[in-house]
Amino acid sequence: MTLKKLACRRVQKLTPYQSARRIGGVGRIYLNANENPLSINYELDSSVYNRYPDCQPQEVLQAYADYAGVKPEQVMVSRGSDEAIGLLVRTFCEVEQDQILICPPTYGMYSIAAETNGVGVIKVAPREDFQPDAPAIKQALDQNSVKVVFFCSPNNPTGTIIDEDILTDILEYTKDRTLVVVDEAYIEFNMQKSMITLLKKYSNLVITRTLSKAFGLAGLRCGFTIADPRIIGLLLKVIDPYPICAPVAQVATAALQKSNLEVVFERVAMLNEIRDSFAEKVKKLSFVSKVYPSNGNYSLVEFTDGEKLFGYMKEQGIILRDFNDKPRLKNCVRITIGTREEMNQVLEAMERFPQ
Ligand SMILES: Cc1ncc(COP(=O)(O)O)c(C=O)c1O
Repeated sequence: MTLKKLACRRVQKLTPYQSARRIGGVGRIYLNANENPLSINYELDSSVYNRYPDCQPQEVLQAYADYAGVKPEQVMVSRGSDEAIGLLVRTFCEVEQDQILICPPTYGMYSIAAETNGVGVIKVAPREDFQPDAPAIKQALDQNSVKVVFFCSPNNPTGTIIDEDILTDILEYTKDRTLVVVDEAYIEFNMQKSMITLLKKYSNLVITRTLSKAFGLAGLRCGFTIADPRIIGLLLKVIDPYPICAPVAQVATAALQKSNLEVVFERVAMLNEIRDSFAEKVKKLSFVSKVYPSNGNYSLVEFTDGEKLFGYMKEQGIILRDFNDKPRLKNCVRITIGTREEMNQVLEAMERFPQ
């Protein structure tokens, strides 16, 4: 027996999530992972790590609850929001029996989390405007054993914000039988559109958030789940004993203090302005067919030949993210918004694109 065959069947068949780091590529400008080009340095006040940390450091929960306007018992902190996605699948879906429901094109980790855990994935195509197709979703829910619906708002990679009426329609329909997760990893880039206030009305709503994007802390690995305390309690039965390293808790708490939030939101405003001005300029290039309106720190652009553009930019040392093979995204490339200087270099390189 080869070692490969020792793995369980679903892992043998699995294609892992193609993260920017896994895809690799060497360049001088990296705009392929929706990271923040700016970071803030935090001083650590301890270098003594002989004791295990708390599973859920109270100061982090309190700081996030204050920031999000919820109670600490509604919050779970995890190793990035990716860990939360996996926990939601493992906590609520019966192996080889239940499914999650997604509306692709969307963030790839929902289906990977399901597949690695022996949970099925029901895919319901969104409407033309990339909003969820509520009648089709209801039909799929009636015909299957879906335990968790994953929406992403702003959606990665389209930048779409979910329509509140569509979400509430689905929340009503799924009451008491299915969780509806809204992944708000990028919500700081359009904070007024958060669905967090709906938590008061719908106990089956779950919001996931992260410090990886607007807060510029992707390397920290710190994410949050906000939900009814009963849901948080169930997730905490499954989470690892010590998911949050002591230095992570310190940095996360500092990042969520009022004085730092001001810096975060100043930078968000700046990145939004860079994104909109980049979109206006890139639209004018003859080989650009469409720039999707975006609510995140990225811009999805359709080119006449996306694959060729992506390869050309790579040769120029500018690493972007190709979405050509994803449903409805032929010739599309996602461009993370970097500094003003980086975006000028992107435009200059594109202006030299040999067609
Ligand atoms: C929509 C979405 N959700 C979640 C994540 C993962 O975030 P984290 O770094 O908190 O694991 C990403 C990362 O790119 C994302 O795009």
